[in-house]
Amino acid sequence: MSLETVVILAAGEGTRMKSSTPKVLHPIAGRTLVGHVLNAVDALAPKNVRVVVGAGREQVEAHIAEIAPKAVTVFQEKRGGTGHATQLALAGLTPSGTILVLAGDTPMLTGTSLSQLLAEHHAGGFTASVMTAEHPDPTGYGRIIRGDDASLLRIVEERDADEIQRDIIEVNSGVYAFDAAKLASAIGKLKNDNSQGELYLTDVIEILRNEGGKIAAVLIDDFIEILGVNDRVQLAESASLLRDRINEDLMKSGVTIVDPLSTWVDATATIAPDVVLAPGTAIHGATTIASGAVIGPRTTLIDCTVAANARVLESQCTEAVIGEGVNVGPYSYLRAGTKLLSGSKVGAYVEMKNATLGEGSKVPHLSYVGDAIIGEGTNIGAATIFVNYDGVEKHYSVVGDHVRIGSDSMLVAPVTIGDGAYTAAGSVITEDVPAGAIGVGRAKQRNVLGWVLRKRPGTKSAEAAARHSNDEQKG
Ligand code: UD1
Ligand code: CA
Repeated sequence: MSLETVVILAAGEGTRMKSSTPKVLHPIAGRTLVGHVLNAVDALAPKNVRVVVGAGREQVEAHIAEIAPKAVTVFQEKRGGTGHATQLALAGLTPSGTILVLAGDTPMLTGTSLSQLLAEHHAGGFTASVMTAEHPDPTGYGRIIRGDDASLLRIVEERDADEIQRDIIEVNSGVYAFDAAKLASAIGKLKNDNSQGELYLTDVIEILRNEGGKIAAVLIDDFIEILGVNDRVQLAESASLLRDRINEDLMKSGVTIVDPLSTWVDATATIAPDVVLAPGTAIHGATTIASGAVIGPRTTLIDCTVAANARVLESQCTEAVIGEGVNVGPYSYLRAGTKLLSGSKVGAYVEMKNATLGEGSKVPHLSYVGDAIIGEGTNIGAATIFVNYDGVEKHYSVVGDHVRIGSDSMLVAPVTIGDGAYTAAGSVITEDVPAGAIGVGRAKQRNVLGWVLRKRPGTKSAEAAARHSNDEQKG
């Protein structure tokens, strides 16, 4: 037997989330809830994946088309229960091999446990195998009813359970492996004679057993894996459990995490050994960080590439490429298209967007660099602004190698500053500056002598000025 089909049930309304976003689209650790389930399933390399969608159909379908283009969606118009949803998923499918059914709201499940379930299901030649776990607080879950010989008799939903059954802590995970042909013939026999008037997939276990099927309950060690998300409290709980799991894996792989509780790394990020993550740091999306880099404290990286031995301190960076040994921060903001070549430096209070900073070049203080290419060994003086927007369109600036841009320069794009050129501090540069020239674009200073004594008599300034002789004031 081989795994032919995976069915993910994701049509529920998620009423308890109180959200305009469908429940399975809420994100934790860089993936939606259903995205985590699809990712765990992906490890099993199934032939077909069917996702039953209902509430927020268009949004869920669009998301699935994006993250799992090979998955087929099946529409359940009205909630009829997990059994009804499975019936719809099986319609038009030639049943063969093994089918795995699971819910779209259990983001903690791992491919490892799913593989364990399938391995035991196949090894024992079972008709149906249910993944179970012992949950310290089983409230809300279906309870596992075992016979005297410990074999699985049936699953009783909490609402339909008596007091003795409610004390059972072994619960149904909602993950099942079935012999596809036997499931297909039994699924039509479900009845809705329960407290919710729904077709329960759980009832198929008893039906298969009564027909002589071999049924297994596969108890997994860690109940965290089966946690379902039904409201925002459980969403936060799952998020922090996933954070702990990701951080633990990273630390075991050689990443230093100074304060794991305040460090949030998405499941989609890649971090090499000997990276240090300082407190209050968040690493999102497809970010990759190479060995020796030190990130944080209080830094957020979204879809960034960070090369070896770079240092990013107290900064926010999105879609930035940060080269080897580069220094960023504190308090800088790198936006999409920022490229910092090796050994360059972006200091404090700098914003960059769609701009390349050449090897060893520096933007040390209080600047805006937008739509620009800067060569190597160049220094951009404090408070320089790349004036890239004329109110209608954006324009580019090019700054050559070993340039010295004076503090408080305005480089009004489009403009080119040649190799080795200078600009005088406080210049508004509207014309190209040729290589080796200095561009001076500021009014000449004039001093009006004695002005304070005449125009501001009686002030502290005037008092201070009066301490000096007229000659001295004349300079
Ligand atoms: C279900 C199980 C319960 C198990 C628990 C594990 C049943 C009857 N009960 O209960 O034994 O302990 O999961 O988390 O199966 N769905 C549909 N269409 C429907 C109804 C549900 O697609 O008509 C989907 C939901 O979107 C959800 C999944 O099926 O992803 C489970 O449904 P939910 O209502 O959350 O079931 P539970 O009450 O949690
Ligand atoms: Ca649920």
